Amino acid sequence: MKKKIILFVIVVFSLAFANQDQLMFSDWLREVYSTKSSKEWPRARLHNMVNDLTFEDIGLLPKVIYPKDNPYSEIKVELGKKLFFDPRLSSSGKISCATCHDPKLGWTDGIAKSIGHEGRIAHRNSMPIINAVYSTSLFWDGRATTLEHQARFPVEDTLEMNEKVEFAVERIAAISEYKNMFAKSFSNKKVNSENLFKAIATFERTIVSKPSKFDRFISGESNLFTDEEVQGLHLFRTKAGCINCHNSALFSDNKFHNDGLAFFGMEGEDLGKYKHTGKPEDAGLFRTPSLREVAKTGPWMHNGIFEDLTDLVEYYNDGNPNFIKRSLTDHSRDHLIPEKTLMLRPLGLTKNEVKSLVAFLGTLSSDFETELEVKLP
Ligand code: HEC
Ligand code: HEC
Repeated sequence: MKKKIILFVIVVFSLAFANQDQLMFSDWLREVYSTKSSKEWPRARLHNMVNDLTFEDIGLLPKVIYPKDNPYSEIKVELGKKLFFDPRLSSSGKISCATCHDPKLGWTDGIAKSIGHEGRIAHRNSMPIINAVYSTSLFWDGRATTLEHQARFPVEDTLEMNEKVEFAVERIAAISEYKNMFAKSFSNKKVNSENLFKAIATFERTIVSKPSKFDRFISGESNLFTDEEVQGLHLFRTKAGCINCHNSALFSDNKFHNDGLAFFGMEGEDLGKYKHTGKPEDAGLFRTPSLREVAKTGPWMHNGIFEDLTDLVEYYNDGNPNFIKRSLTDHSRDHLIPEKTLMLRPLGLTKNEVKSLVAFLGTLSSDFETELEVKLP
């Protein structure tokens, strides 16, 4: 009996101290992460496939840079905004860019795969246009190089706006208010496709996150993060390995990886970057998406397969099981079987650690504008 009591006391004490340790550790983490520069943070645990020299830690977003051949002007932003919300760019006259990129839904559409022309289902999950200015390539597979280049695709896509660009331009050119705005926005005064996409791109460049809880915390507001959030931040950069790909101020390395979701040989197969490069080594690669505002942009992944961030983090925790189905008889496509990246392996996170990571992801949201005033001509 006595022995049992002693054992009980020891257990209670060690639990209390373990908890105390954990709390002191959180205080220490709060101190380093909020008051020191990222160079003095605990070392990020990087996989040896990540280049130490080019690695950029997470941090504050830099100022937006406008390209020389499409500089900022207020009137151009106003024009681009109207065009972005104008369904007259689509053949049905019913679908605008904002149909699938709604500011109230984190600049996406809140469904797994977008619905476009005459109810057709797009191939992939809509991406937020907020912070897209910071990406070095666009789309899940990187097939567009700039925002100007990108805007042509949805107009022409038969599943999305299903319109010939020249017809859309003709319709816009026939509206005098638009004509005036183009004349004021561009030195050549023309209403043509080049200027139309330039205006939309300029508007998109103004859509960026405001300082998030994370930004304010690392800028010195030490008490802003709960124990759970600061532990989540630390796990993100260490044990959970998220930092290997979700790095830099954008929380994306702007690179392509296979995280096991290509569904080779199965319903919903999507070979990602291979679809536009045709290179077998690109099969199953997708661009690392930014995690800024991520709590608002669900469902997640290129196919919108996760509706819950906890399930998504648990998938990483399981080491991203690679969903593929090989044919036993037909080997003609075997060279396209995607290999999951070696960077992803089971993480051994406890339930609480998963919770902390999800809490941390929640700190990346900001109060960006969702009620935009748009008056169509
Ligand atoms: C029917 C829904 C739909 C419409 C309409 C639509 N989009 Fe998209 N948008 C998507 C989907 C889906 C993706 C991802 C497609 C992919 O990766 O293959 C996407 C991706 C993008 C991206 C890439 C973001 C990134 O981070 O790479 C931008 C920018 C964008 N759209 C802007 C626009 C503009 C501008 C218009 C109007 C001219 C528009 N979209 C119209 C559904 C739509
Ligand atoms: C090897 C690189 C890599 C690592 C490591 C990684 N990710 Fe990702 N992440 C990606 C890629 C690539 C995608 C897009 C995959 C897709 O759509 O199939 C993605 C998608 C996501 C998304 C969905 C975003 C959206 O807009 O749909 C979330 C959330 C996410 N990752 C969180 C995490 C967390 C949390 C960790 C750490 C546990 C992590 N990632 C580790 C590369 C990585």
